Amino acid sequence: MKKLYLIFFITFIILISASCGNETAPVLAGAIGTVNEEPIDETVVQANVPVTENTTSASASGPDSSGSNPASVNEPAAIGDTAYGMLIPDQIKHLPYYYPEKSRRYVEYTRLNPLLGYDKAIIYVNIGLDRPFYSDVATIAEPDRIDVLVNKYNKLPDDYEPQLEELPANPVARGAGRQFLRPEAKEAFIRMHTDAKELGLDITAFGTYRSIPLQHDIWNRKVNSGKSIEDVDRLNAREGHSEHHTGLAIDVIKNNYSVENTREFEWYRENAHKYGFIIRYPKDCEHITGYRYEPWHLRYLGEDLANAVYESGLTYDEYYAVYIEPATSAQP
Ligand code: DAL
Ligand code: ZN
Repeated sequence: MKKLYLIFFITFIILISASCGNETAPVLAGAIGTVNEEPIDETVVQANVPVTENTTSASASGPDSSGSNPASVNEPAAIGDTAYGMLIPDQIKHLPYYYPEKSRRYVEYTRLNPLLGYDKAIIYVNIGLDRPFYSDVATIAEPDRIDVLVNKYNKLPDDYEPQLEELPANPVARGAGRQFLRPEAKEAFIRMHTDAKELGLDITAFGTYRSIPLQHDIWNRKVNSGKSIEDVDRLNAREGHSEHHTGLAIDVIKNNYSVENTREFEWYRENAHKYGFIIRYPKDCEHITGYRYEPWHLRYLGEDLANAVYESGLTYDEYYAVYIEPATSAQP
């Protein structure tokens, strides 16, 4: 019997491994629109010094991303969940990322998005996508983990500051000012920069660590510049929700779509994972990641995990829900 479930599980993994570009966006809580590929900037240059040195304006008030009622896989099952569970195929219920206490959400979400099927729908619900972005926000318990998932449903603690090291001048983009990363990411980025240099390519860091107060300023500045909150949210994380707070994210070369026209992009798209980096916000995945395609934004995960995510063809949000969260929540 166990063998049978294993076969089902492997079949599902193959089924869900298609890149998100191949599917129609489901009915989702977070509103999305068409991708407008005009040059944009994710943030400002020379704004990346660690917390002790940053400038914070206390005047603009940010969105309430403080979060309440974090979605937990350990919620007690509500009355009626068993009945909902009976509607779900057995092979789904034996997947390691099926949580009985979420059966009602799985059923309702699959009804709203029948083309998704239960196999994808339960992953999306586990991510939180059946609810609006920035709802049921959980505060990340272990923010120093290299595999930390930071997204619109998971925020870093308000006082979070990673251990950082300054990048030397060579791998920093001209005019980008001082840049800081976690030591693991810094070492990997320097290695990637050096190897690319030998091929005549110049892969540089344009933006790296950003503090939580700085992200507050950036988000508010964008909104106060006349953009709609919806537009700003598609490109700029709210405070506490940016991977840049971890010291594990790098905007390479420049943070606009012209990066796609570089030979450097052609190379790092195929090779960054070998150094431990993934393109965190892939094309046509906004309905999952909550962000427009960002060809410039690399996230360090370490070589093994970055290779696995690259090979899976999944977004990191999906990969985390399928492979990492079940292992983490099974720990005593
Ligand atoms: N542009 C990415 C999502 C950030 O603001 O962190
Ligand atoms: Zn970025």
